[in-house]
Amino acid sequence: MIRSISRPLSLRGTVPLPGDKSISHRYAMLSAIAEGVSELRHFASSQDCHSTLRCLRGLGVEVREDADTVAVAGRGLRGLLPCNGVLDAGNSGTTIRLLSGILAGHPFESVITGDESLARRPMERILQPLRLMGAEVSSREQGLPPLRIRGGTLRGLRYKLPVASAQVKSCVLLAGLYAGAPVAVCETIPTRDHTELALRHFGASLETQGDWIEIRPNPRLASGRLEIPGDISSAAFFLVAAGLVPGSELILPGCGLNRRRRPVLDYLKECGLDIAVEQESEIAGEPRGTIRVRHDRALFRQALPPVSGGLSAALIDEIPVLAVLGSQVEEGLLISDASELRVKESDRIATVALNLRAMGAAVEEKPDGLQIRGHQRLRGADILPRGDHRIAMAFAVAGLVADGETRIHEAECADVSFPGFWQILDTITK
Ligand code: S3P
Repeated sequence: MIRSISRPLSLRGTVPLPGDKSISHRYAMLSAIAEGVSELRHFASSQDCHSTLRCLRGLGVEVREDADTVAVAGRGLRGLLPCNGVLDAGNSGTTIRLLSGILAGHPFESVITGDESLARRPMERILQPLRLMGAEVSSREQGLPPLRIRGGTLRGLRYKLPVASAQVKSCVLLAGLYAGAPVAVCETIPTRDHTELALRHFGASLETQGDWIEIRPNPRLASGRLEIPGDISSAAFFLVAAGLVPGSELILPGCGLNRRRRPVLDYLKECGLDIAVEQESEIAGEPRGTIRVRHDRALFRQALPPVSGGLSAALIDEIPVLAVLGSQVEEGLLISDASELRVKESDRIATVALNLRAMGAAVEEKPDGLQIRGHQRLRGADILPRGDHRIAMAFAVAGLVADGETRIHEAECADVSFPGFWQILDTITK
């Protein structure tokens, strides 16, 4: 499907956000190994989270969906059943990496894989710690899916994460539920902590000491009723869009404001975006609030702080849309220490550079990032997201400030994280 975008007069209205993708995956998986039925309200409508539900069903978990609520009948910590077939994680790295941690605690063989993009993504980063814990794991050459996993009771482990990745950290912590002794992970660069918060909420015991997070094995996890906040990474597209399009004002109710995810909000504020947060509350340790964003001409005269070091890890999912922002502000934007972008749903350093250049912008591609020249006049172009949802949506934002028509190819890939994205964009376009 090709979506055509051109410059609007302004963007105004309310943006209903999908449930947070990262939190939805974790709540679904923990509900599946808890005792009793959990009710998850505002569960992410994303294809990725449906991949998690599909895999859980394949493992014998009863899952009911009713509007935006998902009910998961927990089978207890060791109660998953062997799947008679291959588990399909679709496009979802979070599904394959987190679920592998849980499968490593079950004494039967599981095979898990995904689509063409997922089959190119590195899994050695989870296979190594799972092997050290005693699980039998194998993969295609170079640690690529399909993964074959047979587990059981695992060994304790103290593991320093070789890469800043919430998915790897979460895989090890979830496998730690099934160990005979405590399991600890050390992360020197902080990543999103939804797994830690969710594990505690479901009843596991975790201790943090400096950079180390230790989990005690064999807890009884209890089901519950939870409400998932809106996805701040999905919100980012609309925050940047409102910042760039004159006369815009948007309201984004119920947006997740987790301390490890909100750096994008703080970064955009620092960039000069007019953002206010109202009606803040918290459920299960996950804060949320209503965001109001207004266009402010001053934004264009700002020098954006470079995205590097720990900030690159904190903003990893938002970098594509920040790159678009960088092309519009006076001094451009330097992104470094972000080589992880090369192993996302697409090589995001390459896809951002390719598509910004197609729109006439000057971009220098580096091994670990991008140097984006500022103050660029973008022209409408054919955008090739290479199947990557965040690239399609980031360049929809670019199309809003470009001369002429921008044509986003494979626009349907936005559904991977944000079904309804195009309709919402139509609704708020004035
Ligand atoms: C996620 C972690 C990040 C992020 C992804 C979701 C998660 O991946 O890019 O979209 O839910 O844990 P990495 O752990 O590979 O950095």
